[in-house]
Amino acid sequence: MLVKMFSKLNCQVRIYTCFLTVLLFGCQQQLQPNLQQQRSKQGMAVSAHPLASDAGLAMLQQGGNAVDAAAATALAISVVEPFSAGIGGGGFLLLRRAQTGTVQALDFRERAPKRATRDMYLDKQGKVRPRASLDGHLAAGIPGTVAGLYTVHREYGKLPWAAVVAPAIALAENGFPVSSRFVTAARQRQDAIQKNPAARQVFTRAGILYQPGELLVQRDLAQTLRKIAADPQSFYTGDIARSIAADMAKNGGIMTLEDLKNYTPIWRNPVCGNFRSYQICAMSPPSSGGVHLLQILNMLGDTDLKRLGRQSADTVHLLAESMRVAYADRAQYLGDPDFISVPVKALTGHNYAKLRRSQIQMSKAKPSNQVKAVDAKTLSRFVWESPETTHLTVVDKERNVVSLTFTVNGGFGAGAVAAGTGILLNNEMDDFVAAPGVPNLFGLVGGDANSIAPGKTPLSSMTPIIVTENGKFRLAAGAPGGSTIITTVLQIVLNVLVYDMNVGEAVSAPRIHHQWIPDRLQVERGGFDTATLDELRRRGHKIQEREDWGNANAIVLRSDGWLEGAADRRGEGATRSY
Ligand code: DON
Repeated sequence: MLVKMFSKLNCQVRIYTCFLTVLLFGCQQQLQPNLQQQRSKQGMAVSAHPLASDAGLAMLQQGGNAVDAAAATALAISVVEPFSAGIGGGGFLLLRRAQTGTVQALDFRERAPKRATRDMYLDKQGKVRPRASLDGHLAAGIPGTVAGLYTVHREYGKLPWAAVVAPAIALAENGFPVSSRFVTAARQRQDAIQKNPAARQVFTRAGILYQPGELLVQRDLAQTLRKIAADPQSFYTGDIARSIAADMAKNGGIMTLEDLKNYTPIWRNPVCGNFRSYQICAMSPPSSGGVHLLQILNMLGDTDLKRLGRQSADTVHLLAESMRVAYADRAQYLGDPDFISVPVKALTGHNYAKLRRSQIQMSKAKPSNQVKAVDAKTLSRFVWESPETTHLTVVDKERNVVSLTFTVNGGFGAGAVAAGTGILLNNEMDDFVAAPGVPNLFGLVGGDANSIAPGKTPLSSMTPIIVTENGKFRLAAGAPGGSTIITTVLQIVLNVLVYDMNVGEAVSAPRIHHQWIPDRLQVERGGFDTATLDELRRRGHKIQEREDWGNANAIVLRSDGWLEGAADRRGEGATRSY
């Protein structure tokens, strides 16, 4: 049974590996590290697309703050990178206001429609219907992007809302040259795109896919964005909502006008913890990102990682074993905190980390089938201890900081556009557990904690972070990459805070990833020397070399007062500053 499960996983992981590699990380573009790095004393915006970073910079130069710039960048991404994130999806935002010095977290993630049920993706025999949670209208959760961006802007933005939406409208209306990442993503998803007439109309020229450099004009989307500029609520109660609901009804979806009307973003407390002299704040549940980032950092504790060496077998082994434990706990305990009780304090506590660290042997990898989440009773002993996605990072001249990750989930989301709106629907429902132990698109497994229920939010791995030191901003970062997001952000944190790399090097450095199941230590091809990999194999790791992953970006504030920002060499992003 286990063997069968693993071979299925292996196959799925190979599929998603290939899918992600080609689709999301643009491996064809081998740009030089640091080319996308810039520095400035004023303000900067970094995102996965130069035109979106331009939109953010324009806001800063017009006297807007980080919130204006982040909202404009995210809306522009929705136009130029619809395959990774958009107004048909959702996400999480972390905001640190210079005035208060506190970090706030906004959850504008998709939620399950009211008619969603626990078994909605199962057939009569109780088997998961292949791709039911990935393709078409039934795969979509209620989108949160517009409500989220408007909520944070209404409270903290400086420029008029219409000014923030303007760059996205211009990009949709006048068009933009599609990139090779766009084209590769469209090729990967062409079956779904061709099948859905509205998607075919938007993303092909009479059925022919766009070539790199060709201009893509999105007239319906421009019209939708105009309505949003005039009245963001039109997405949830007006014309746009009616079009989405009608399209759902026509195409076997379950999302209704009522679902859209009831959507609300939620301000949540981020999870924050200390790592050495730093305070790290990251997204709390319903993302698993913050909890497991802190858990792994706590497990590393005060281990002298510098002495062990950044890419040594010892360091990679310790990281991989810590990741394995964290993902085992994730599968058991993480879900929407409004539906289940998530033991955040226990999982992010130092004493719990000590217990888990003591179970790691440095000489030997522990097979994943011997690593389990601790039982609830054991975990409760720690409770009272004190304690295709895209990322963008913006810092303004007052040192307000926004770290925002949002997504439509898989490349081109559900592969369907709500007719007449230009809005690409997400397939975020796949982030729920369709059935216990059955892996999702990213090979992640889980159980009851992340089962489907009406109004519930699917568990995420998105990990926007903001780090401070002695009350001063130090680092903000985030990444796409499904299950790999948490470990990508972890490694950027270590590269900057422990290994003193500049931000370009920190984002560029080769990465590893372990997610408990499948029992594989994934390493970026060409990033690690043979002797290290041999030693890791000797300790029992099953090494899987993969193409690059995780189109991250980050901004640091250096001790000399310069901001330094970098987009990942793995993608096509850019830093823009003034
Ligand atoms: O929320 C999550 O964890 C996923 N829906 C993120 C998807 C993602 O990162 C896609 N690809 N790189």
